[in-house]
Formats: sequence, C-alpha cells, structure tokens
Amino acid sequence: MKPLQIGDKLAKLPLIQGGMGVGVSLSRLAGAVARTGGIGIISTAQIGFREADFQKDTKAANLRAMVAELKKARDIAADADGKCQGLIGYNIMVATKDYADYVKTAAHAGADVIISGAGLPVDLPEYVTGTDTKIAPIVSSEKAARIILKMWDRRYKRTADFVVIEGAHAGGHLGFSREELTHLYEPDYEANYDDEIRRIIACVHEYGEKYGVHIPVITAGGIMNVRQVQHAFALGAEGVQVATPFVTTEECDAAPAYKQAYVNAKKEDIEIVTSPVGMPGRAIHNAFLEKVAQQKEHITHCFRCLEKCNPTQAPYCITQALIRAVEGDVENGLIFCGDNVQYLDHIGTVEEVVHALFPER
Ligand SMILES: Cc1cc2nc3c(=O)[nH]c(=O)nc-3n(C[C@H](O)[C@H](O)[C@H](O)COP(=O)(O)O)c2cc1C
Repeated sequence: MKPLQIGDKLAKLPLIQGGMGVGVSLSRLAGAVARTGGIGIISTAQIGFREADFQKDTKAANLRAMVAELKKARDIAADADGKCQGLIGYNIMVATKDYADYVKTAAHAGADVIISGAGLPVDLPEYVTGTDTKIAPIVSSEKAARIILKMWDRRYKRTADFVVIEGAHAGGHLGFSREELTHLYEPDYEANYDDEIRRIIACVHEYGEKYGVHIPVITAGGIMNVRQVQHAFALGAEGVQVATPFVTTEECDAAPAYKQAYVNAKKEDIEIVTSPVGMPGRAIHNAFLEKVAQQKEHITHCFRCLEKCNPTQAPYCITQALIRAVEGDVENGLIFCGDNVQYLDHIGTVEEVVHALFPER
C-alpha cells in the first residue's frame, strides 16, 4: 500500500472520506479519518445550519462555520506530538450558490484539498490562485474528464492535482441519468464501467504528461472492503474515496437516528430520487419520499443553497429536508445513501471502516 502523494502533500493512507452534506461529514468525522492517515473531507453544504443566524444570513453562517470546522478537524486529527498523518479538505458542490466565495474561503482557511462535483468545476483553478490548496474535479465519464481538463488547460494553463471518479453505486447526487442507472445491475455493467475508468485514467495521464506532473486518480462508489480496494488499484487508481460506510461510525457527525436508519435499511429500501435541482440521487425510502411524491411541500423560506433550484416549483426544500434527516427526524427528512447501505449492520468506528479497506495497515 502506497501513500497518496498529491503534489507536495502526502496522506499516509490512500483513502479519501467522501464529503457528505448536510452536516454528515463535519469536523468529527473528517478529523478522525485524517488521524488514521487518510484524507478527511468536510462537506460545505449548508454547513452553518447550527449557527444562530443561519436562517437570516445563511451564507455568512456557512462561511464562518467552514473555518471553525476545519480548525476543529485539525485538532482532532493531530496525534500526541501535534502531527497529522493525513490531510483535511472540503467538498464544495459546483451547484452551490456563490460557489466562488465558498472555494476562496476554503483555500484561504488553509484547506489541503478541495473536491468539487455536482457540476463541472470550470473556474475552480481561478478561485484557489495564490494558495497551496490542491484541487480535484469529480467526474463519472471520460467525456466529463476530457471537458474539464481541456478547459483548465486552455483557460488556466494548468491541470488537476488529482481526479475523483465517482461511479453509479455512490451516494448523494449522481452524475448519471435515470436511464443510465437502470442498467446498473446488468451482467456487463461492471466490466464496461471498469473500461470507462481505464479510459478516464488514460485521459488524466495525458494531461499529467503534458504538464510533467503525476496526477493520482481516485475511484469512488460502493467501495467497502479490501477486495474492492485491490480491484481499484488493479485498474490504475491510486486511492479510493469512501463515504456511506463512514456514516455508521461513532465519529460521524449525524444524529444517532440517522446512523440507525442506515443500519436498518435493506436493499429494497434504496430508491433513486430526483432532487429539486433535477439531478438523480440515491436515498433511503421513507414517509418523506412518499409524501413529496404525492404532494408538493409548501416552501416558506428559501435558503438560496443551489444555483438551479426554483423554490416556486421545487417539490420540497432540499436544505430543510436534509437538515431534518441529519438531526434525527428520519421519517420527515431526505436520507441520501450509497448503494452499499444494505450491507451496514452496526454502528462501529472509523478505525473499523479503515481496517476493512486496508487490513495490512
Ligand atoms: C449522505 C451522503 C451525502 C453526500 N453528500 C455529498 C455532497 O454534498 N457533495 C458531493 O460531492 N458528494 C456527496 N456525496 C457523495 C460522497 O462524497 C461519495 O463520493 C460517494 O457516496 C461514494 O460512494 P459510497 O458512499 O458508496 O462510498 C454524499 C454521499 C452520501 C452517502
């Protein structure tokens, strides 16, 4: 097992804990993962939801909470000598309103890395200029990888520091159409997507060669054991990003009822939903999903979270639905999950999840 080298930054473990919003991956989880030597990722999605002024000035509350959570995560991640074997950064969705301000705040707060998906992070390089923060787009296809790397090459004369490939087994918003997702369990699906991963890696390496740098590629989606990690490495990945299995840990920042909903979920409870911004996502079936399928929720306040959301037409407010869930109101909230939620059967620890992935560590 090789450490993950991203430019001049090093994580002892080739593991990224995927960012999970709202409030699922904050300082406790990200700090605990970084302490093991991996890369802990804080989700910036409505991160200030516990701040007193969140309703009144959502953006200010979010930007303040971002800085505070990074500081807390660094304290948790430090060993007895004050050193950290891992790295800490943020996941910032491209679809976030005022995306640029979130990225600039993250970079100036001293994030080691920023990972951006839910859209193509076309201008991400511009917003981190002059800082030491490493950046990665999340892509799900060779086409998306080519588009973003070509744009960064042309506009900014630079390339990615690393790239995350997110497959269709992942949680949260997905970079696949509903139609594409219907093929997920067909016999050839995995082999075909493995080929897509190889093509993405080849494309990334083309740009690495052009710039004379090494760009590690990290794969994500449904990974929870050593066999899957080894498969990812055999394809040419140099690390894995894992999210869902970290929810059922003591260190995860969500309420106990949220974690328990993961433990209780069976295969038949997993549903593909269309989020208010029109993107497909994976979630646990509950009373909330039944209710909003029947009737549009009356939205009383817009938190201005996502660029493409229109509160007069959205079936529900995604900010409120995610906050209710993460605070433990699991029947009235939206519980995003990965496809492997069905295999999680107890609340464990970050150490346990890491051990299942890297037993030789
Ligand atoms: C509850 C939950 C929330 C998520 N929120 C985000 C998010 O805010 N932004 C994002 O880019 N990805 C998000 N993701 C995706 C993860 O970061 C990760 O890439 C993906 O879930 C990996 O697959 P796995 O969960 O099977 O390990 C979320 C996933 C989950 C399960």
